[in-house]
Order: sequence, then structure tokens, then C-alpha cells
Amino acid sequence: IQRIANTVPLSVFHCTTKDSELMGYSIPQGTMIIQNLDSMLREEGQWKFPHEFNPENFLNEQGEFLFCEPGSRICLGESLARMELFLIIVTLLRRFKFVWPEDAGKPDLTPVFGATLTPKPYFMKIQLRGNQ
Ligand code: HEM
Repeated sequence: IQRIANTVPLSVFHCTTKDSELMGYSIPQGTMIIQNLDSMLREEGQWKFPHEFNPENFLNEQGEFLFCEPGSRICLGESLARMELFLIIVTLLRRFKFVWPEDAGKPDLTPVFGATLTPKPYFMKIQLRGNQ
């Protein structure tokens, strides 16, 4: 979901702390670097299904989860974020059923563009699950 929703497509801006070289390009110290996460998260050849929501993008041939290669740069808050997402989503799903209304047509997943990508306004039926 986070790959497809991609809420901060240009990430936070970075800056080179020393003269650097990347894929044959020399980048002087002090250059502002803007990453295009949107391009990376949908790059053809990097994903089995680059333009689809499909959890198989993150599984190997044996159906096992693919981890980041050691040495990859990662989010320092990853373990906190994973825990928060798990607790919030599981709590909501245990108590409520989220139903796309029959008369709402197909969902429009095109985001509202800006520094962040946000969903367009939409209607959703939220039903309390029984025995809670
Ligand atoms: C769903 C939630 C989150 C997502 C998708 C996310 C995503 C990211 C991404 C893409 C980066 C960029 C890595 C880079 O540019 O090299 C990053 C870096 C970072 N994130 Fe997160 N993050 C999340 C939550 C958090 C939380 C909860 C915290 C702190 C409590 C946090 C703290 C940081 C820090 C400190 C960095 C900089 C790491 C570095 O520069 O080495 N993040 N995150």
C-alpha cells in the first residue's frame, strides 16, 4: 500500500557532504539532492508488477519476504513505524468492516498532487463488527 500510495514522492531533500561520484556523474560537495522516490517505486524491471498493488512484489520464488540488502540505507524510525501501523490497522480491522459503497463506482486512485500525495475525497461504509 505504501509503495502505491507513496505519500512523500520527493522524500526530504539531502545535500552532499563531500565531492561524490554516482554512476559516472561527479557531484560537488554542498549540492542539494532531491530523490525521486516515485520513479524508484514504480521502476520497470525492479518490480514484478511495478504498476499494480501486489504483495508478490516483495516475495521471492519460494514465497518468502525479501529483506533490504545489508548496507542499504533505511529509515531510522522503521521499527516504530511498523509497530504503529500494525497496531492501528489491526485495531481498526478487528472492530470495523470497511466496505466500498455499491453506488460509488470504481475507486479513483489518482492522488491530489503536491509536496505530499493525498487521496481525493471519497465515501466509505464503516460497519461495526458483531460481538465487540
Ligand atoms: C510509515 C512511516 C514511515 C515511512 C514510510 C518512512 C520512510 C522514510 C524514508 C523513505 C526515508 C529516507 C531514507 C533516505 O533518504 O535515505 C526515511 C528516513 C528517516 N526516517 Fe522515516 N519513515 C517513516 C516513519 C518514521 C518515523 C516514525 C520516524 C521517527 C520516529 C522516522 C525517522 C526517520 C529518520 C531519522 C530518517 C533519516 C535516516 C537517515 O538519513 O539516515 N521515520 N524514512
